[in-house]
Amino acid sequence: MKTISVILAAGQGTRMRSSLPKVLNPILGQPMLWYAVEASRAVTQDSPVVVVGHNADSVREALGDYAQFVLQEEQLGTGHAVQQAESVLRDKTDLVLVSYGDMPLVRPETLSRLVESQQTHNGPVSVLTAMAENPRGFGRIVRDSDGGVLAIVEEVHATPEQLEIRELNTGVFCFSSDWLWDALGRIELNIKGEYFLTDLVEIAVSDEMSVQAIKVDDNSEMIGINTQVHLAEASAMMQKRINEKWMLNGVTIQDPHSTFIEPGATIGRDTCIAPNSHLRGETHIGEACIIGPNSIIQDSRMGDRCEVLSSVVEYAVMEDDVDIGPFAHLRKGAHLAAGVHMGNFGEVKNSYLGPGTKMGHFSYLGDTTTGSDVNIGAGTITCNYDGVNKHPTEIGDDVFVGSDTMLVAPLKLGKGSRTGAGAVVTKNVKDETLVVGMPARAIRKLKKQDS
Ligand code: UD1
Ligand code: CA
Repeated sequence: MKTISVILAAGQGTRMRSSLPKVLNPILGQPMLWYAVEASRAVTQDSPVVVVGHNADSVREALGDYAQFVLQEEQLGTGHAVQQAESVLRDKTDLVLVSYGDMPLVRPETLSRLVESQQTHNGPVSVLTAMAENPRGFGRIVRDSDGGVLAIVEEVHATPEQLEIRELNTGVFCFSSDWLWDALGRIELNIKGEYFLTDLVEIAVSDEMSVQAIKVDDNSEMIGINTQVHLAEASAMMQKRINEKWMLNGVTIQDPHSTFIEPGATIGRDTCIAPNSHLRGETHIGEACIIGPNSIIQDSRMGDRCEVLSSVVEYAVMEDDVDIGPFAHLRKGAHLAAGVHMGNFGEVKNSYLGPGTKMGHFSYLGDTTTGSDVNIGAGTITCNYDGVNKHPTEIGDDVFVGSDTMLVAPLKLGKGSRTGAGAVVTKNVKDETLVVGMPARAIRKLKKQDS
């Protein structure tokens, strides 16, 4: 049966006290709404319909073509919100799965279970419920003496006996589409001035149709976010889930509480993550690497057996057996080939360091290509920017750059050449040549034993 999902995200979320729309507040690098969309996409065939209202444009922009959007101009309640999707969904699907943009922890497996139960159910709706001691202001599931679901009562409208009910409405529903659109029109405006989606349960019952309730296994799935406190709770839960997934795949995480792995990251087995490490964006780490402590890796790729100690790696590539740090900084476009060693206080931007190159101590390489087995001496700086334009530096195989050399780009150092300590190199250097001084000038042709 075809299922399309509707995700409600039009509310303002004033209790977040944030200038961001509530559903865009991030959890591990993604807006909370992204997780709801992701879970829905995993169980339905079409991209979900997100109902937007407050800050509609920024919500649309954040999700892009990951979802389709309908606008709820005035927030007249959850029933009214679902109604906005009718124009795009009527006659397009058999089942409509409804969930909320502020509940990022609902698992795709749980949504599937609800959809499957509705597929075989002869009534028009299945609802996901949770048993919990702390009702957190959720709607209560009212059942008759035979256990049949009769109604969902919101806390504000509940009688003292109903307030004692511990079966709660998570807010996730699966409806038969044929029934839904007409039934939505029958919800009455309540005293709060809203159309409650939850009233559909009573409407089904009054039509003598059955309502099915499926219980969620893991109550953490129903953590809804209304405040920054809830956001932190949900983030911690998501962090735990992701870390556990990688640990079960053979990754060692020394301190899961201080390890933050975003959902787009992947890690090979036998890799060890030390405390206070952050793997952000589309980061892919190979096998048997050692990451951290105290490292941030953003949208980067790393081969096997690499080490990153107290360093920051952004939009970079490290091939196998590369080690960096402590306190190294790889910036956008840095590419370190196999076996490169980069020690403390180095920065590499938009540069390729050939296999076996060593850059041990406080240096900067920008817009540079090096050959293999190059030695970058302590304090080497590529002067790649003249205040207006960036210029390239090319360093050949087996070059030895002496300590404190300034390489004034554009510049080429021929293979096997050498610079003396403190050289300021302004002109291209021929192969196998030693240059010294300021500005550096050729003093002699190198003999074999010099290099
Ligand atoms: C709702 C349920 C409650 C359930 C709880 C679970 C109703 C009437 N109540 O209550 O039974 O236990 O969720 O979290 O459904 N929204 C819109 N447009 C609107 C109103 C809301 O898009 O006009 C969106 C909000 O942005 C939010 C979601 O719907 O993502 C839920 O709305 P909210 O006001 O938070 O409902 P609750 O009071 O939490
Ligand atoms: Ca809510």
